[in-house]
Amino acid sequence: MTQLVADLDVLQQAPSSDQAPLTTPESNTGKKRKLYIESYGCQMNFSDSEIVASIMAESGFDTTDKAEKADLIFLNTCAIRENAEQKIRHRLNHLRGMKNRKPNLVIGVLGCMAERLKTKLLEEEKMVDMVVGPDAYRDLPNLIDKVDEGDKAVNVFLSKEETYGEITPVRLNTNGVTAFISIMRGCDNMCSFCVVPYTRGRERSRDAESIIAEAKDLFSKGYREVTLLGQNVDSYKWSSKEGAEVITFAHLLEMVALVDPDLRVRFSTSHPKDITDEVLYTMKRHANICNYIHLPAQSGNSRILKLMNRTYDREWYMGRVRAIQEILGKDCGISTDMIVGFCSETEEEHQESVDLIREVDYDYGYLFAYSERPNTPAAKKLKDDIPEETKQRRLAEIIKVHRESSLRRNLNHVGKVHRVLVEGTSKRSQEQLFGRNDQNAVVIFDKGNLLKGQYVNVLVTSCTGGTLLGEVVN
Ligand code: SAH
Ligand code: SF4
Ligand code: F3S
Repeated sequence: MTQLVADLDVLQQAPSSDQAPLTTPESNTGKKRKLYIESYGCQMNFSDSEIVASIMAESGFDTTDKAEKADLIFLNTCAIRENAEQKIRHRLNHLRGMKNRKPNLVIGVLGCMAERLKTKLLEEEKMVDMVVGPDAYRDLPNLIDKVDEGDKAVNVFLSKEETYGEITPVRLNTNGVTAFISIMRGCDNMCSFCVVPYTRGRERSRDAESIIAEAKDLFSKGYREVTLLGQNVDSYKWSSKEGAEVITFAHLLEMVALVDPDLRVRFSTSHPKDITDEVLYTMKRHANICNYIHLPAQSGNSRILKLMNRTYDREWYMGRVRAIQEILGKDCGISTDMIVGFCSETEEEHQESVDLIREVDYDYGYLFAYSERPNTPAAKKLKDDIPEETKQRRLAEIIKVHRESSLRRNLNHVGKVHRVLVEGTSKRSQEQLFGRNDQNAVVIFDKGNLLKGQYVNVLVTSCTGGTLLGEVVN
């Protein structure tokens, strides 16, 4: 698994680091219409596809892992950067040929690009039959009926309440060991570059009891790691009824950790303005909450952070990094997202991002060139004035320093024994397995008699910038 992702649309420790979209596996009764889903974008979108698969299974569809065999094709899309949308347009062009050969084929665009472009997508891409936003998935069966009756179907209403709380996701492409649990939807922050508040609507938290029930159910089925997902997990807030105790993210984290000491708990994303010491102390109290925090900085320069409306400055960010290191120790893994070439960013300001990477010494980085998104505050008020080649040069620069800091972090792990959760067979060799340590680093070791879902102690003997290699010890 590559640890440094340069301008991919697969964000934040996405299930697979290559750019291929995840697709539905086969479930075949031989009688029903077959659905094929391709998912793009962040973990939230992959998690949503599992809700879509559940709703579709309930209304009598099978799934297939091959687009060619499908009666319905859904693309669950991302709109975060221009190239994410470009990729979908190419894919739709390709599907056009399939639709010509099979006129009954239904093609649906779901997710953030559907929400952003709404009916425009029907006009632009004439072969699309359905456009469905992230809060409208319960309406899918109805929308399919509409298409069957010969109409085009659109539902892009954003909801203030929808959390799909009680829907049990159908796990797609699962390794049977690790799973995502959505704990909230939407985003109320207004980072000036970001399209998410417009594609996913207002922030809302999911019923804590349904989250715990989902974690328990996963554990009973053999899963050993859950990742709690939200755009800004630290603003999680839920109470069973008015006047009842409010459950914060720190509470929720503790409740999930108490499901079983053998269930590892991860979470993403932490916003630097909101992550509390209480969350850090909760992590410290529970060995099964992994020592790893995704804390996107976006920039190392305070003027740019202000223009980005991140509502913290460099000093505040470094203060949070120091709190993590003091409470959880310097071993705690930290990763970031960075945008280079934001409106008016000077060379000196860019260098402050480079310096920040050296100063924090990140374990991983997800690095992007700024891509202006229509109708965002930055698109309305600021000029996208950094030439593309400057953005690409700056991107290459931060990729280089990130690689150095990842390698330094990995070298720290060499010579130490790590507790690793076995996730599956290594891509390099059938004779080797891979898993991750507490800090989220990938570890590769010989298979022996080990099975997926087991915990093993591995002595790390060497490393590359992206992976740790080791031997199983007792
Ligand atoms: N909620 C998360 C991030 C969600 S989007 C957070 O607040 O950190 C994931 C990442 O995509 C962002 O962290 C940012 O680095 C990047 N991104 C978002 N909009 C972008 C844009 N217009 N151009 C380039 N990168 C962008
Ligand atoms: Fe976008 Fe900012 Fe919300 Fe993250 S916190 S999703 S970057 S608006
Ligand atoms: Fe995720 Fe992309 Fe939407 S990053 S929230 S799928 S715009």
